[in-house]
Amino acid sequence: FTTDAAAGEKVFAACRTCHVFDEGVNRVGPSLHKIVGRKSGSVAGFSYSDANKNSGITWTPEVLFEYLEDPKAYVPGTKMAFPGVKDAQKRANLVAYLEAQSK
Ligand code: HEM
Repeated sequence: FTTDAAAGEKVFAACRTCHVFDEGVNRVGPSLHKIVGRKSGSVAGFSYSDANKNSGITWTPEVLFEYLEDPKAYVPGTKMAFPGVKDAQKRANLVAYLEAQSK
């Protein structure tokens, strides 16, 4: 794919109700501060499901691309109530945006 992080920011609108990038700011979901490269379940003070906490995942761009298609399939038992972004181009743009925010 050719990715477009600016277009990905628009896709992130669906995430923003539950996540922000600010360090230490948890909402319904954990802070996504420097999410790319982070180990799953590592935000202090956030009450994760065991499924997410113990998944052993490192959130690389490739893993995020897979996960965000269908979070409940990738992490069975996750409490992230979000169906996923099915469109691959939109998802690739979203991951490019997450990468840009993680620098
Ligand atoms: C967890 C991304 C939408 C609620 C996560 C994690 C990522 C992520 C990467 C794992 C974090 C970690 O291990 O520290 C996204 C993205 C979204 C999105 C990119 C939009 C495409 C949402 C929405 C909600 C939500 C809309 C609320 C309805 C949560 C919750 C968790 C979580 C509660 C913790 C899951 C658990 O402990 O099982 N999200 N998310 N997310 N997210 Fe989202």
